[in-house]
Amino acid sequence: MGLIPDLVIEQVLSRTDILQTVGEYVTLKRTGNNYKGLCPFHGENSPSFFVHPSKGIFKCFGCGAGGNVVNFLMTIEGWNFPETVRHLADKFGIEIAEESDEEAEQSRRRREGKKLYLRIMTEARAFFEQTLEAEGGRAALHYLRERDIDAVTSQAFGLGYAPQGWQNLFEHLVALGHKGPVLERAGLVIANNKGGYYDRFRHRVVFPVVDIWGNTLAFGARALSSEEQAKYINSPETPFYKKGEQLYGLDQAKKGIQKAEFALLVEGNFDVISLHGQGLDMAIAPMGTALTDEQARLLARYTKRVVIAFDGDQAGQDATLRCMSVLERAQIETLVIQFDELDDPDSFIRRHGPKALHEKIADAVPLVAWALDRMLSPVEGASIERKLVALKEASELLADVHDTLSWEHYAQEISRRLAIEPRLLREYLKRPKANEEATRKAFVDAQRGAELENAEYGALVVLLDHPEWLEDFFRDELDKLLCSQELAEFLERAHNQYGQTQQLNGPMLLERIDNGPLRKTVERAMVESATLYAADKSLRWYQDCVRTLKKNWANRTLDHIMLELERVDFRAERARYEALNKQREQVNRFKTALDLEVKSAPS
Ligand code: GTP
Ligand code: MN
Repeated sequence: MGLIPDLVIEQVLSRTDILQTVGEYVTLKRTGNNYKGLCPFHGENSPSFFVHPSKGIFKCFGCGAGGNVVNFLMTIEGWNFPETVRHLADKFGIEIAEESDEEAEQSRRRREGKKLYLRIMTEARAFFEQTLEAEGGRAALHYLRERDIDAVTSQAFGLGYAPQGWQNLFEHLVALGHKGPVLERAGLVIANNKGGYYDRFRHRVVFPVVDIWGNTLAFGARALSSEEQAKYINSPETPFYKKGEQLYGLDQAKKGIQKAEFALLVEGNFDVISLHGQGLDMAIAPMGTALTDEQARLLARYTKRVVIAFDGDQAGQDATLRCMSVLERAQIETLVIQFDELDDPDSFIRRHGPKALHEKIADAVPLVAWALDRMLSPVEGASIERKLVALKEASELLADVHDTLSWEHYAQEISRRLAIEPRLLREYLKRPKANEEATRKAFVDAQRGAELENAEYGALVVLLDHPEWLEDFFRDELDKLLCSQELAEFLERAHNQYGQTQQLNGPMLLERIDNGPLRKTVERAMVESATLYAADKSLRWYQDCVRTLKKNWANRTLDHIMLELERVDFRAERARYEALNKQREQVNRFKTALDLEVKSAPS
């Protein structure tokens, strides 16, 4: 049997959760950041066996046993090293090729290469740090102070300055004995076409990217002004640095994360540094890219809870959504906080202070609830078409929710907010493609039939309570605002009956409704007024319902106009295009007037 390549051992160790593995043999209880239990290797009655998940090791203070997860399995199962690694590799589907002498030699060369690489990175980092403190670093230092980054924080993150000019770092590293091609492979310099090299980072603030062992693997470099073409220039990937495997700030945040029992995931390097400076030392960032499975697994070693605090703009919201399945796969519970459109965590904390951000974190909402709200709230009271689009999105979201109770909870939420029957929704969610037509039809029925929109139902209740208002209702043509044609017809009959007899005969009215669901709804509405509003608030209630009906009508009409506008050829049908635009303006004015009405309404 040949040797197992180092790469495989690295992979196995990084993928194995020591807590989970040990937990299969020992009952563990949490104490602070660690876990303890009765040592499986010697008899004891009070626990002296500890697991430190963040360090990836176990230790017994009774018998002295200790080591990493491979050592644990070797001891408890009596396997040798290759057997244990093979066992774990099988579990994760990691392929092990037998290692020949030649491959062993390659592994050795790789280890040597990494040693040299880390040395170069450390020397480059020291160079940048010194330059920041020197005369030439003044502008960069000024920039950092302007952004309220203090010296302690700056040093903790190893911030530095890459000076102006083409070969400062290059010459410095060559003087230390390094060769151009090696520096090029390390991503620090770029070859020009005359056989020379120039510095990749020039006149920028430099951020070392550090792994969890404290090794500097790469750099990010930010321009000092917005005139520069690229805000950030980052190290390229190298044989020893894959950006999808690192989290910016994790080394500095490890302790903070364990103390807070969550990690605060932000978008930018600057957010991380600024938050740490204000005491939020659990902040980390992906490396300017979408969160990867490797990053999530790495994080899961420190915490099972993440609060996402991305930028408030659309891009930030989209990125938040993309984290969902990744974090779900790593079995990390995810919450979200949302900033205003123009804010990010850095600008927020600088304006409102750390306390305000802590409060926001305390109010964070589960990612799925946040995402659902984002999909559903714009389409409440909107057209069937838009609701269907939202439903499709929502069903894709729910496909990632594996916990049955949560799934049920969110399914109910969708059902309530889109006014679609729960049973039908479940069928759709399970087989969206096959059930699309049925769902669509059910929507149409729901709009016409029993499942009235809230405002329609509210108006029905209050009009049955106050039939004397039916006169004005029809005079103002408010029946035209209803989605349900059958409800409009029912109210018309009620109006006629009241006109003739000055009272409503409930049983008689019910008798005349052919539509079963609507009949049930009216039955309920006849007895519901007292539960919806206090008797002296009925007018206010009625006015609110009418306003909502108007608003929903306006939104539906706008949807319709927008759809038409998309279809119209601007050049060929100019007149129609303009007419539609005019309509759109009118409806928008109508909506604005409604909003003003709400604001000025007496309370
Ligand atoms: P500030 O605008 O100074 O607050 O920077 P930031 O660090 O908050 O960055 P931002 O939120 O704009 O972007 C998030 C991350 O994306 C950054 O930290 C970088 O890692 C990455 N990024 C941003 N701009 C660029 C760019 O121009 N090029 C590259 N390669 N990466 C970028
Ligand atoms: Mn930013």
